[in-house]
Amino acid sequence: MAKRIERVLAGEAIWPPPAWLMRQAGRYLPEYRAIRATAGDFVTLATTPAMAAEVTLQPVRRYGMDAAILFSDILMVPWALGQGLSFKAGEGPVLPPIRDAQGLAGLDIRRVPGAITPILEAVRLVKAGVGDATLIGFAGSPFTVACYMVEGGGSKDFAAVRGLAYADPALFGALMDLLVETTILYLKAQIDAGAEVVMVFDTWAGMLPPRQFRMHVIEPTRRIVSAVKAAHPGVRVVGFPRMAGMLLGEYAAATGVDGVGVDTAADLGAARGLVAGGIALQGNLDPLLLVAGGAAMEDEARGLCEALRGTPHIFNLGHGIVPQTSPDHVGALLAAVRGG
Ligand code: CP3
Repeated sequence: MAKRIERVLAGEAIWPPPAWLMRQAGRYLPEYRAIRATAGDFVTLATTPAMAAEVTLQPVRRYGMDAAILFSDILMVPWALGQGLSFKAGEGPVLPPIRDAQGLAGLDIRRVPGAITPILEAVRLVKAGVGDATLIGFAGSPFTVACYMVEGGGSKDFAAVRGLAYADPALFGALMDLLVETTILYLKAQIDAGAEVVMVFDTWAGMLPPRQFRMHVIEPTRRIVSAVKAAHPGVRVVGFPRMAGMLLGEYAAATGVDGVGVDTAADLGAARGLVAGGIALQGNLDPLLLVAGGAAMEDEARGLCEALRGTPHIFNLGHGIVPQTSPDHVGALLAAVRGG
């Protein structure tokens, strides 16, 4: 019998819907902060298999989540390619920006299989302890990963990467091709190590105009989904083109994903109208409503589930849990979704 999330991704409607939360492993959990303190920095935590596996399983144990999402980061791909990566407290990720052919030449896909070995070992350890929950592997989309690689970190508008795509399409295209190839390799390796579903996070997809969205979001994602499915026909893929708006339906149809993540700004009923009925929707409670908690949160969560009742739905947030979230509110949210 397939696990609940895989059944929904095969097109089945389950009531109440299975649930997990983006960034469910993280700083809002005291047990995460305890391990994070022993690890020191984030990259060490993500590349020490026993610790990465432990923090992956913490929210599954505490709340009975329907999925365990591998504790790692989308920026481990540039890290594995040889771009330096560090996380500065309060500032987020820092990478030496790639803006020219010389920067691109410093990246090497041949480093990747060796570099990701500890991450794959973490996948194996999680698989051994995951029980009835679905083990979700993931990667960032080539576009969103390129945003950080070109900018050298986070940004309000990622003007550097969007500018580069217009000004030097050959260089940008070469970077995107490298990211497509690396992402295919990385996702296939996670599946070989035990990931049952994979998710492609495209946090910044919604910044692009429609033509660029098709070129830099839909087409690379389609290549990734088709290569992953050619190697692993039974594995289900979820795409999360955040803020895709009206292009959500085109993304779902053209990429070949089995499920789409819906961001906080989208109306779930309208999303259901855009996305073909056999494709699952995942989402989309506002993470800040989870911070607030209480009856308003519980009513909203029940309403989101009702809006998609009878159609394939995986309950989730519309974006990741934020650190100031109370662990008790997460428990109350799961109880509300499960019919409490
Ligand atoms: O629990 C899970 O969801 C799995 C682990 C996971 C992390 N990052 C852990 C993490 C996942 C799936 C991600 C994805 C990710 N990382 C995305 C896409 C999804 C999204 O949130 O939009 C993006 C854009 C990143 C890049 C990133 N990583 C940023 C901007 C930051 C700094 C901001 C922050 O939240 O701290 C990170 C660091 C990061 N990744 C942390 C965690 C738990 C915090 C590190 C710490 O503990 O100090």
